[in-house]
Amino acid sequence: MKLSTPHLLGIKDLLPQDIRLIIDTAKQFKEVLQRPIKKVPSLRDVTIVNLFFENSTRTRISFELAERRLSADVLNFTTSASSVSKGETMLDTVNNILSMKVDMVVLRHSASGAPHFLAKHISSAIVNAGDGTNEHPTQALLDAYSIEEATGSLQGKKIAIVGDIMHSRVALSNIHLLTKMGAEVTVAGPPTLIPKYLTEAFGVNVTYNLKEALQWCDVANVLRIQLERQNQPLFSSLREYNIAYGISRKLLDSLQKKIIIMHPGPINRGVELDSDVANGNESIILQQVENGVAVRMAVLYLLAGQLVN
Ligand code: CP
Repeated sequence: MKLSTPHLLGIKDLLPQDIRLIIDTAKQFKEVLQRPIKKVPSLRDVTIVNLFFENSTRTRISFELAERRLSADVLNFTTSASSVSKGETMLDTVNNILSMKVDMVVLRHSASGAPHFLAKHISSAIVNAGDGTNEHPTQALLDAYSIEEATGSLQGKKIAIVGDIMHSRVALSNIHLLTKMGAEVTVAGPPTLIPKYLTEAFGVNVTYNLKEALQWCDVANVLRIQLERQNQPLFSSLREYNIAYGISRKLLDSLQKKIIIMHPGPINRGVELDSDVANGNESIILQQVENGVAVRMAVLYLLAGQLVN
């Protein structure tokens, strides 16, 4: 089985069978990761560069671990320690790195569309590790894997995505993926943080009432308020956001059902999630991080299988 694309630029470009193939391959890699010897030779002689033009903790470490578990040769690039600070463009930076015979590029960039731009100009396989407010495809894949692992399937599941939908690449990638795979999606948050086109474009439900969304869903994927992407205030204060849209133990206990709590990280504790919820029995936040390594191994393995030598 092969992916229908030579790059992973976004979930938007994937077919449902691509998503199924990645999740099923990740299940096999998760089994490998439970063994005493966690390393496999699958990507021996494949060179991968991790180009992070924007900060990251989870995604950068997870990709690097996935690459090393697959025995790839790994190069790491961060903007602060590079010649980008001397005015070099992204394309010049990448072309210089590629002249050293690199097979795959994992790219995080603050500009939406940066990986799509690179894919038009270079021949290496590109993996989008988050581009601006556009997509974060491996996050959505690991979220889907974690939902399936916790509940048995994606088909027919009710997923609430809560918080700053407007600025979230995680929200957009999750909406693409979940609707392609037969899940029902409701987005919940303040009206100023939810784009008006969502229902028409994707058929998702919109509510401004957090409790209504939580009472409806099987799983709540809770997002961070992205203050760094807001050029004007979109709600009165973090304290008031927490009162209206923060998930507390009291709120969870008031529901007539048990739900699963997810968060892509980084968490703003006491804003969108209280600590006793983030650390509670309903939370699968650390399982998401664990599953991220297997999912990224699957993505890299499947794309490497399509490399032209
Ligand atoms: N979830 C996520 O993308 O986290 P990082 O920004 O730490 O990579």
